[in-house]
Amino acid sequence: MDAGVPTIAVDGERIKGVKRQAMGTTDDALAQTLEREARGGLWRGFSVDGDRLRTNEHYEQPPRFFTAITGGAWNVYSCNLWEDGADESQAQEQKLDLLSTLLQLRPGQRILDVGCGWGGPLVYLAKRYGVRGVGLTLSPTQREYAERRVREHDVDVAIHECHWKGFVDGEPFDAVYTDEVIVHFNDLGGYFEKVWSLLRPGGRMLNKELHFTSSRWMEITPAMVFVNEIYGETGNYRTLHEELALVDRAGFTLEKVYQIGMDNYVRTTERWLENMKTCREELEQIVAASYYKRFRTYLRIARRIFGASSMTLDVITSVKPLATPAPPIVGAGL
Ligand SMILES: C[S@@+](CC[C@H](N)C(=O)[O-])C[C@H]1O[C@@H](n2cnc3c(N)ncnc32)[C@H](O)[C@@H]1O
Repeated sequence: MDAGVPTIAVDGERIKGVKRQAMGTTDDALAQTLEREARGGLWRGFSVDGDRLRTNEHYEQPPRFFTAITGGAWNVYSCNLWEDGADESQAQEQKLDLLSTLLQLRPGQRILDVGCGWGGPLVYLAKRYGVRGVGLTLSPTQREYAERRVREHDVDVAIHECHWKGFVDGEPFDAVYTDEVIVHFNDLGGYFEKVWSLLRPGGRMLNKELHFTSSRWMEITPAMVFVNEIYGETGNYRTLHEELALVDRAGFTLEKVYQIGMDNYVRTTERWLENMKTCREELEQIVAASYYKRFRTYLRIARRIFGASSMTLDVITSVKPLATPAPPIVGAGL
């Protein structure tokens, strides 16, 4: 074993990683992004094809692997809300209802779900709130699965296999949202500019994502290397501070930062681990025992991280202004 490289033990496996110095605190979040891009490491940018190939190392696994683990009616692959003794489907719906409230959805509106997974969230929102939807994914297997779900529920939803960078559409959207997807975007500032171009004036952008509670935690630990590798090394976690700076730079007016308690994510990962255990024999047939074990290790690391205090889960909504707003008059009438 390489003596200079730290390791941790999780799930009976020793995980090797490189540890880099913490980023240090700076007021300039944009400079942090640029510095990180230049230095490489965990926060790497890839080409459109590179993104597709890397994220699909994970998302192109057979859908049954994920539907068995996520469970419920909508197979949501992100944190759900476990209020009032909710079961799996209710927990998924409570989370999606929260997104709908924050997006202020109304029947007939047209919404874009960037990173739509297997289509469950968008189909639920279309069915429950009467919106029309477009979903983007990089995975052909996810697209096929999501399209089947759209047909089953007979909702006005189109699914495209398309990177957000290449997506164009003739009709402006009322809302564009992501649910635990922007971690895959190295060029987050570029993404916000793209959303700006897709929204009508007055339209709303929502992004739900995990954030580091301090830039001091943004160091490459063995655990983060392991998590990042599961997603083909496309894991670009940031601080909330950095994300908000990029939202502002793209011209959006910040509306709300809603924090979801991390206990919900501990509960979600525990549920996924329980589902893995229940379906172990079947899942090992589908993806091989070694992948099953690797994914279980990933979930155990995630549960451990979510139970500590190094990350928060935040839903940020912002609005594309109707016109360039005049600054509020401070002290008027004095
Ligand atoms: C963690 S899943 C989230 C799925 C869904 N939002 C949910 O909550 O169930 C991430 C999704 O983002 C998609 N994705 C990742 N990078 C993307 C990109 N650059 N453009 C479009 N979709 C992307 C993946 O294909 C996948 O569908």
